[in-house]
Parts: sequence; C-alpha cells; structure tokens
Amino acid sequence: MLEEELDPLLEAAVRALSEATDVAAVEAVRVRYLGRRGELTERFAVLQDPTLSAQEKARLGKKFNAIKQSLEKSLSERKAALSPQGISGGSVADLTLPGHPPEVGRLHPITQTIERILAIFRSLGFAVVLGPEVETEYHNFDALNIPANHPSRENFDTFYLESERETDVLLRSHTSPVQIRFMKRHRPPFQIVVPGRVFRPDATDATHSFQFHQVEGLAVGPGVTFGDLKGVLAAWAKGMFGSSARLRFRPHHFPFTEPSAEGDLSCIFCGAKGCRVCGQKGWLEILGCGMVHPEVFKAVDYLPGTVGFAFGMGVERIAMLLHGIEDIRLFFENDIRFLRQFP
Ligand code: PHE
Repeated sequence: MLEEELDPLLEAAVRALSEATDVAAVEAVRVRYLGRRGELTERFAVLQDPTLSAQEKARLGKKFNAIKQSLEKSLSERKAALSPQGISGGSVADLTLPGHPPEVGRLHPITQTIERILAIFRSLGFAVVLGPEVETEYHNFDALNIPANHPSRENFDTFYLESERETDVLLRSHTSPVQIRFMKRHRPPFQIVVPGRVFRPDATDATHSFQFHQVEGLAVGPGVTFGDLKGVLAAWAKGMFGSSARLRFRPHHFPFTEPSAEGDLSCIFCGAKGCRVCGQKGWLEILGCGMVHPEVFKAVDYLPGTVGFAFGMGVERIAMLLHGIEDIRLFFENDIRFLRQFP
C-alpha cells in the first residue's frame, strides 16, 4: 500500500459526497470507503504488518485516524444537509406518524364499586353525604351508645391520634359517626348513604386491611320499619348482584341499633348451594344493620318515638365478590397490572 494513495482517496470520497443528492447516496459513499471492505478500511490493514517499526506504526496510525475522522465528519455533515428538515431545526420528524396518545386514567375498582352501590341507593331516593375520616371519640363511640368498656374502643381496635386541642381524636373505625353529624344538623324525614374510608389496626392478610371502605345507610321518618330496611336492602342486592340475589338476616348485636342483624348475601358463585368461596355455607356476610337505637336519637336531641333504620356494608368485600378477587391487599398496592383490569 502506498501512503501517497491516502490523500487522493480522501479527495475522491469528498467529491463523491458532494455529488450525493440524497441520504442513501451518502450511505453508499460511507460503505464504499469506510465499510467493512471499504477502500480506506482495507488500506488500514497495513498497520498489522509485523515488519513495521513501532515508530512507523504510530505515525501511520495517526495519519489513518485523521483521514478517517475527516471523512466521517464530511459524511455526517452531508447527511444532515440532505435530511428532511424537522420541526426542531434539522432533526428528523415524520409528521405523518400517529403520535403518542395520552394515557387515559380510570377509576380505582373500589371507587367504581362505591359508585355502583351509590347509584342504586340514589335510584331508591337516598342522598349521598360525606363525613370526616378523623373523628372524635364522641362521634365514633359515645353518641352511638358504645359504652366506655366496649372492646371496639380499645387500642387494638382503633387508631388514636395525638392532638393539641383534643385528647380524644382518632381515625374513624366505621362510617356510623356520620349518622350523628348528619342528624345534629337535620330533622327527619330523610334517607342518606355515606361512603368512606375507615381504619382499624388489624394485621393485614388476604381478607383484612388496616384501611377499608364502608357505605353507611340511614333512613329516619314516621312509620319506618324493619320491613322497609329489608325491602331497601333486598332491592339494592338485586340491583348490585342480579335478580337472583337474595339476602338473609341473622340476629346480631350492635350498640347503636335495636334490634340488630347481620345481612348475608346468597352466594353468587354457587347459587347458595355451598362452595369454596362461601365456605360451603351458601351465604356471604356483607353488612350489619338494624333499627336505630333510641339512645342514638337521644344523643342528637330527636323526639322520643322517632324511628329509623341504619346499615353499614364493607365495600372491599363486595368488590372482591363482584370480580372474584381473592386478596384485599391488591386494592392498596397500586400495581398497574391489577388496576388496568377494571376499565
Ligand atoms: N358500623 C357497623 C360496623 O362497622 C356496621 C353497622 C352500621 C351496623 C349501621 C348497624 C348499623 O361494623
């Protein structure tokens, strides 16, 4: 190889570049001179010659590099000059591409479930009311006839907060305190539902969480009976789970209702025949309810003889049944792969 060949080769390459009229032609010049078997590349092989002195090798290497860099610079300049002008000064932007559609968000499955529950109660004439998540012991317990020695007031059942103004502040353990707040400001008749988050220091597992949601119901007015309570909840269950859904009421105890009951839904997986989900029982517990206790009406200064019913249902439980979700923790982990499944 003759060293003198290098400069003319570079000149020839630059000339070819100036004649190139599109990017493809520029690429052809690159391949011809700097490709794997390019005219310059092949001459670079001389550097492998064992007879070459180290000094000579260094000098030649430098020269090759200079030529290579010079040609690479010319190549990229020519390529840029021939590229279609994009909006950002010379960058390639294909304006016919469809672009990036914005990611559309969606409601959390718990919010969706609450919306469904509320929609049915709205259609039955209930108004939606909200209350605070941070409550006083008075609203959460005392006014609801929950006595001082009741276990739900213990530390293991309630998150107490420290406050400078009040010593009895806590994260509400149920939505029932909103009954008190609403009744203190309104006179019957009325019928309301109250969705919201509640907190209990339960150890977390597949069916328990320290936070969950409830929908509370309260209807007060002349002549309201337990029959009305059953009718309203049965209508809601059919709207929520389909016309074959049935409810069963079992006697229970709540300090703020008398009589009280727990409401079981006929298992929607086996049609109440008994399966793994319902533990072979055919029924799934989903709510607590009853006739408002006279002591509660007394706490809000309602007249003796006032009647009404109340209920409280667990939203996570209902969402898990609706969608066949087996672990309550999925609702709170913010895993987008889970959340995407609820369009
Ligand atoms: N507050 C009760 C609970 O959290 C549910 C309930 C509400 C029961 C209203 C009766 C009436 O378990």
